[in-house]
Amino acid sequence: MKRVIHFDEDQDKGHQDDFEFKVHDNTKQQKKKKKNGQQQQKDQKFHAANATTVPLDRATMKQMRKEMLDFRQQLPIYSGRDAIIQSIQDSPTVIVMGETGSGKTTQIPQFILEAGMASYNAGAIAVTQPRRVAAVNLAKRVAEETFTTLGKRVGYTVRFDDTSSDETLIKYLTDGMLLREILSDELLLRYKVIVLDEAHERTLRTDMLFGMVKKIQKIRKEKRSNGEDIEELKIVVMSATLDAEKFSEFFDGAKILYVSGRLFPVDSYFTQEPQADYLDASLVTIFQIHVKNPKGDILMFLPGQDAIETLTTLVNEYASQLRPSQQRLLACPLFAALPPSQQQKVFDPAPVNTRKIILATNIAETSITIPGIKYVIDCGLAKLRGFNPKIGVESLLLHPISKSSAWQRTGRAGREAAGVCYRLYTEDAFRELDDDTVPEIRRCNLAAAVLSLKASGIDNVLEFDYMDRPSRASLIRALEELYALGAIDDKGHLSELGKKMSEFPLDPTFAKVIIQSGEYGCSLEVIAIVSLLSVDSIFFTPSDKREQATESRRKFIHPDGDHLTLLNVLKAYWEVKGDVGWCKEHFINIRNVKIALEIRDQLIRFCERIDINPAATCGTDTDQVLKCFLTGFFQNSALLQPDGSYKSVAGSQTVKIHPGSAMFGKRVEGIMYNELVFTTKHYVRSVSSIQSAWLPAAAPKYFNNMKN
Ligand code: CDP
Ligand code: MG
Repeated sequence: MKRVIHFDEDQDKGHQDDFEFKVHDNTKQQKKKKKNGQQQQKDQKFHAANATTVPLDRATMKQMRKEMLDFRQQLPIYSGRDAIIQSIQDSPTVIVMGETGSGKTTQIPQFILEAGMASYNAGAIAVTQPRRVAAVNLAKRVAEETFTTLGKRVGYTVRFDDTSSDETLIKYLTDGMLLREILSDELLLRYKVIVLDEAHERTLRTDMLFGMVKKIQKIRKEKRSNGEDIEELKIVVMSATLDAEKFSEFFDGAKILYVSGRLFPVDSYFTQEPQADYLDASLVTIFQIHVKNPKGDILMFLPGQDAIETLTTLVNEYASQLRPSQQRLLACPLFAALPPSQQQKVFDPAPVNTRKIILATNIAETSITIPGIKYVIDCGLAKLRGFNPKIGVESLLLHPISKSSAWQRTGRAGREAAGVCYRLYTEDAFRELDDDTVPEIRRCNLAAAVLSLKASGIDNVLEFDYMDRPSRASLIRALEELYALGAIDDKGHLSELGKKMSEFPLDPTFAKVIIQSGEYGCSLEVIAIVSLLSVDSIFFTPSDKREQATESRRKFIHPDGDHLTLLNVLKAYWEVKGDVGWCKEHFINIRNVKIALEIRDQLIRFCERIDINPAATCGTDTDQVLKCFLTGFFQNSALLQPDGSYKSVAGSQTVKIHPGSAMFGKRVEGIMYNELVFTTKHYVRSVSSIQSAWLPAAAPKYFNNMKN
């Protein structure tokens, strides 16, 4: 089968060399395999010889040091070394803006150390990273550059892995870990310099650090002027995009240093047609580049681990079909959960006569630089945190990237020479993209953000110094919601429950329901239902077959409403092992069920982490499931009135059951719902039947307050 994707550049070029997806002559392949085997053996020998543990002689060491210094000196940032050191010495806070790969993250901490600004007495240097992989990788690199053992002078701290010691003077750590350190070292006294890296990403944690570190700097200054023996705290903010002004404003007009990058021109091309299947489009594009274009490695941006793993397998499969005369192609995956030994492959030079294709998440966008890249393929998608408005699940939904991300990705092709970027979307689609990624604090539910702030030790969330401040009213609403849920006490302090809730990547209401499922003995059911509620709908209803669809789904309906109906569908789906024909027959949206099941896997892992048995089941006592949901959704409940309408408990508002609900047209004592939809009336969706007697137990604080 021959598949070709037309990019704008293709108009004036022929396709005589297109890659064809077909199996080549087997005998040739066998021979090639043999040859490859020999080549491999040679490579292995080469590695073995290199991996010697014999101490290096002085001359070799000297030579290696010289080479490393030469490498460092040719980085764009090196020419600005003195100015950078001077500025950090002169001012409390400095903003450094520079192209990805210019040397900010690896060099600036070394400059600071070399200038004697950090020491065992004065304090160490902390460099924060939004991503774990980046923190580990950068620490390794800097240990290499300084010829020291990792974990000594240069180290890293990420969750579950602390490779640092009392000797560590340059420490790379995730922003979450620095937040944790603040809880035990309020003024971060072990540090002299805090480098907030990748500031442009504006993750919730980085935003929290901005406010906290600024405050710590001020307190340390005051203490010093009161004569206390305390070091001044230096802050360096580093960003790869042009938002430096905003950071400067936040840090009281801090000085901005621009590092002139060395970026070679990159031609970028869009597809002529939208691509329905980005994986298929990626595969075809990779091989088109491989057979048509001159030497140079390829970097492909993909949204997540699943896509990367699928494509790695496919690329390797098709690569074995390349003609023996053609260059080899080697797929190297790169994502956060990849074992470190495999991550290293990305940075090693490709074997002889081989082109590397690196399949990466947006880790490779600004935080990690991979040498040798000449071609970039951008699928235009990323998995972003906090984007599922239905249950507030983080990092689960595919989202189109922003224009600024697209430009960053493009830039990765021009680090060492002119390059090319292939965008797997049309130019029109590009114009539709947001300019910048919206800061996480603006995206995620505020109750979730406030809970996260509290869990990081910020009690007064109203007075917190936000770079993008949410309105006071919305913060108060979030506090009230958390109080009613029992996540904070009447003094606003985080409760044990709240602490657990903050560990979940969910809206606080759903997090509470899942945690409570442990006590109600129905985690199996609750986790499944929450996952199913997180997708648009697991049903599909073609407009011309509406009645048929409703009819064929009737058998799943549970008399107590939508929650248990969803569960029935899932049980039936499992029974037929997700059979495609069965799904079609019953108008079940198989794609959405699969997405929901992925979410379910994640939630199960979170439960295990906090010792909730995800397999606990209540069997036929399904009231437990509804009572459990009510502990999160008590504010979304309504009671039947004498006239047959339902009035909400929270706002005394009349609500109508949506016609799509299993409860439509039913009269029960009370209902609970997950969603309120405003059309001409207040419709509620995802509705189940409840008893009014369940309410006080579901939320004692809330209902006792209402009585008073
Ligand atoms: O932070 P920034 O993006 O400005 O650059 P960096 O991460 O400090 O990387 C500077 C250079 O170091 C890159 O261009 C790479 O050539 C090199 N580097 C490397 O070879 N191996 C690493 N693990 C990290 C960086
Ligand atoms: Mg960097």
